[in-house]
Amino acid sequence: MTKPTRDEVRAAWETNAAWWDDYYKEGNDFHLTLIAPPTERLLDARPGETILDVACGNGVFSRRMAGLGASVVAFDFSETFIECARKRTIERVDRIEYHVLNATDRSALLSLGEGRFDAAVCTMAIMDMAEIEPLAEVLPRLLKPSGRFVFSVMHPCFNNPSTRMCAEQEDRGGDLRTVRTVKVEQYMKPFSAKGIGIVGQPVPQTYFHRPLHALLEPFLRNGLVLDGLEETAFTAPSNARGPLSWDHYPEIPPVLVVRLRPALRR
Ligand SMILES: C[S@@+](CC[C@H](N)C(=O)[O-])C[C@H]1O[C@@H](n2cnc3c(N)ncnc32)[C@H](O)[C@@H]1O
Repeated sequence: MTKPTRDEVRAAWETNAAWWDDYYKEGNDFHLTLIAPPTERLLDARPGETILDVACGNGVFSRRMAGLGASVVAFDFSETFIECARKRTIERVDRIEYHVLNATDRSALLSLGEGRFDAAVCTMAIMDMAEIEPLAEVLPRLLKPSGRFVFSVMHPCFNNPSTRMCAEQEDRGGDLRTVRTVKVEQYMKPFSAKGIGIVGQPVPQTYFHRPLHALLEPFLRNGLVLDGLEETAFTAPSNARGPLSWDHYPEIPPVLVVRLRPALRR
């Protein structure tokens, strides 16, 4: 696939934003089960802290953090998503500031305030970013020395755009059994591909697959260290989303959640 331009990447989100917000509301089962709980555990937000929400979408996680007593600065590059986020924020309005801003723009990121943030969070958006180098470079400057950054992504090993969800039936001594596996065709090199986040969304978005080494390397090179990690999977099938949905794969995590911190200066 030829590399999409920054405008094409943003245009897809702009087209999907209102539909996505209407479907997603305060979070779908993926967000509420696999993403928000581990992110909150790793983030450990405390009342009075100032937290940056990178690529906040409709602000679902910003509102959760404001509910925990934090002050939140949230941004997304889709104007429509930010409009939706503002409309949905009817409580604790004074605790959330929303901005339209592109995470690939270094000077825009820096304008948020050097040394201002106790923590930063980015839920399920790094794999949607065409470039992560600007964020990796600027983030350590936005965080206080005691800060932390927690992000979640589609698990690059099991849930990347080359993954095929498989179900096979076998006869185990007379018992018919369905065996579910995933097949991953590409992992080692970064690549981009179009795909859908939610079935029914108006247009596909572009995913930017990065193997673990490529995902973490820019952050580590810029002075952050990894000190927390969770891999989350559904524990019980709901049958609501079809026979090949992730809730049938309790042994395969579709989501990876990572915590990074500024390295201690010696
Ligand atoms: C899957 S949604 C996740 C939204 C939100 N964090 C959540 O958990 O619901 C990905 C979001 O990333 C945003 N996004 C992608 N690339 C971006 C960039 N370069 N700068 C800012 N936002 C970006 C999209 O507009 C979209 O809102």
